[in-house]
Amino acid sequence: MTRIVDGRQVAASVIEAVKSAAASLERLAGVKAGLAVIIVGDDPASHAYVGAKSRMARECGFASVQHTLPADTTQEQLAALVTTLNEDSAVHGILVQLPLPKHFDSDAIIQSIRPEKDVDGLHVVNAGKLATGDLQTGLVSCTPAGAMVFVREAHGRDLSGLNAVVVGRSNLFGKPMAQLLLSAHATVTVAHSRSRDLPAICRNADILVAAVGRPEIVKADWVKPGATVIDVGINRIAAPERGEGRTRLVGDVAFEECSRVAAVITPVPGGVGPMTIAMLMANTAIAAHRQAGLRSPPF
Ligand code: GUN
Repeated sequence: MTRIVDGRQVAASVIEAVKSAAASLERLAGVKAGLAVIIVGDDPASHAYVGAKSRMARECGFASVQHTLPADTTQEQLAALVTTLNEDSAVHGILVQLPLPKHFDSDAIIQSIRPEKDVDGLHVVNAGKLATGDLQTGLVSCTPAGAMVFVREAHGRDLSGLNAVVVGRSNLFGKPMAQLLLSAHATVTVAHSRSRDLPAICRNADILVAAVGRPEIVKADWVKPGATVIDVGINRIAAPERGEGRTRLVGDVAFEECSRVAAVITPVPGGVGPMTIAMLMANTAIAAHRQAGLRSPPF
């Protein structure tokens, strides 16, 4: 029987743990965890994501501040806001929603966030800690951290002897995901759009993680029987069967057919998505504990 992972349920249990960590931090140290989320411009999808992050932060008992800036904000104005937040001791986590409008040098902005407040795990210091196997003192990018919760549920903490394939090599997901799998002793292959014979590479995977950004590209004959399949894609496609002009969300995995071959599979929506927000809350709680000189509980 294939197990379909309920990401909303797993995320809800992470959120419960974050809420109690935030409450104990306030009780023990008098510190309310603070998250600042910055959004520039008016991309509707980005606003939906950021709204969900800000709402969840409040639900966790954090002091949550959202900075909504117009699309014509300059690099200098945004950099000045990051500097102010870096220096604000009530702010423990800073998130700049990506993508920024085209005129920005995004990397310069991300790298100007203090690594200890970089709850997205995108600063080179945090990426470097992950790459050198230091999972204790840095902050790990939220989506791969969330996907690893599913991997651990299916296979435990030790992936020795298992082949993991990550399709996608972005800094936001593919690279950190590969590092996390490697730290857990999996044998890791990173494949991407220029890899030769992607289906053959994927068929070798005991753990297949798809982050390609192409709707339902992973087919049943790409999946090794009994594999764990984690779908990180979020693609909006036309859904004429629901009526004219209607759309629906699908992942990078052709869910119906792959769920007949996999042992464990994550759906879209309701799989990795809710975990990303939950792990952002977890990172904020971790950052707040560290900045208060306390050890954070693990999430
Ligand atoms: N845009 C899409 N996903 C993310 C994310 O995880 N972090 C940020 N900052 N922007 C995003």
